[in-house]
Amino acid sequence: MKLLSKPRINRLRSRLFYKIMGSYLVFMLLSVAALTFLINREIKGGLTILVMALFSLLAALIFSRKITSPIRKMEIFTRKVCNGAPAGTLLVESNDELGQLAKNINHLVLQQQEKIKLVHKEKRKLASAFTAMVEGVMILNSDNRIESMNNSLMNILGRREDDIINKTLLEVFRNMDLQNALERFKETGEPVLQEITLGGASPIILDVNISPIQGLSGGDEKTMMVFHEVTRLKKLENIREDFVANVTHEIKTPLTAIIGFIETLEEGAIEDRVTAEKFLRIISEHAQRLNRLVDGLLTLSSIELGEIKLHLEGISVVHIVENALPVIQAKARDKKLAIHHDIPTGLPLIMADRDRVAQVILNILDNAVKFTPEGGKVSITAFEDGGGYVVVRIADTGIGIPASEIPRLGERFYRVDKTRSRELGGIGLGLSIVKHLMKAHQGRVEIESSPGKSTTVSLYFPCSL
Ligand SMILES: Nc1ncnc2c1ncn2[C@@H]1O[C@H](COP(=O)(O)OP(=O)(O)O)[C@@H](O)[C@H]1O
Ligand SMILES: [Mg+2]
Repeated sequence: MKLLSKPRINRLRSRLFYKIMGSYLVFMLLSVAALTFLINREIKGGLTILVMALFSLLAALIFSRKITSPIRKMEIFTRKVCNGAPAGTLLVESNDELGQLAKNINHLVLQQQEKIKLVHKEKRKLASAFTAMVEGVMILNSDNRIESMNNSLMNILGRREDDIINKTLLEVFRNMDLQNALERFKETGEPVLQEITLGGASPIILDVNISPIQGLSGGDEKTMMVFHEVTRLKKLENIREDFVANVTHEIKTPLTAIIGFIETLEEGAIEDRVTAEKFLRIISEHAQRLNRLVDGLLTLSSIELGEIKLHLEGISVVHIVENALPVIQAKARDKKLAIHHDIPTGLPLIMADRDRVAQVILNILDNAVKFTPEGGKVSITAFEDGGGYVVVRIADTGIGIPASEIPRLGERFYRVDKTRSRELGGIGLGLSIVKHLMKAHQGRVEIESSPGKSTTVSLYFPCSL
């Protein structure tokens, strides 16, 4: 639509002015003429002129109304638009300049409404992105008070919007690292990245990115803070670091012993047969320990990588237990431990890999024997739990495990008493392997214990259909 140019608007304005002024001028002239004639008693001629004057007056009134009415309409319409009320369309049915002006006003209003709609749409888009972001986002105003915060951050903090807004960072987070990072950012104006830890018992670790919000009108200086939760990542990183440290230690200890004994032999101990045989036995024990460590690690990594293929078949737990007993009995005899087993016949078969189930049961029996002092008892039972599992239960009267340690059993290298386990030849991978193998069988392990008294391990194997 073509808008009126400035000179045309000026012309239109002066024409309107002349029209109105002309009408009033005609009216004034005629009235003066009529009065003059009346005064001169030219009654007849005066009467004619009076009638003419009245007609002129009427014509001027009609004419001026025709001009003022659309202007009034425009005034009401534009006032409504200014007040933000829904204005609709301005109706002026004339083809002159006033009609054109009305069309231009309609066009401007329409354009303005389109722009407002667009701004609202963009605002809604931004708001929904802000809400849906996984990262926590917070905006600080120029007084460093919290202006807004998205849902993710409120969830991380476990706080409601009304006890956050307009507060300072320190009031909400109570974290000096974060406060110092903000001050660093304020001093330098450069983006700052800071890791913070919130909470006590189960801390949350967050990476915080502080940066300025640029391009704000009126030179406002707001600050944007993006929070990225890295608790899980940090945990995994710690597990990896612990693992590397553990493996290194577990390899280094026997290797140092092996190298030490070999050197002593080389330095002459080999001449003394009794000492030499003793040293060779120690070297052999450490080498076997290293071998067990490598085997354990290889087993774990193949399970984790899904490389172990289970040969599932219906097998009887009685057979597995009976085959495992001779392996452990020699060790039990040395410690004067009694091993009882009482497995009912007629139990359903379990769906399992024969060798892997034997490995699981041997690991648990080995622990039971290892952690039960001389004269103690180890018993093995099995039963059907009614939920589609056959449970093999191995109980001992050993040293037991504190309740707080039970959830950590099964972590690689985790041992309640590292020195004791090491003295007994343990490397801390047994329960981890058991846990993984049971999971691969769609089964599970449950451990109950009374410290100083007993430990009971229940292995749940799914029944064969
Ligand atoms: N029957 C048990 N009695 C007491 N403690 C046990 C028993 N079984 C396992 N544990 C604890 O769990 C830890 C981890 O067991 P495991 O992974 O088999 O490692 P390892 O036998 O090499 O020490 C042991 O070091 C021990 O502290
Ligand atoms: Mg073990």
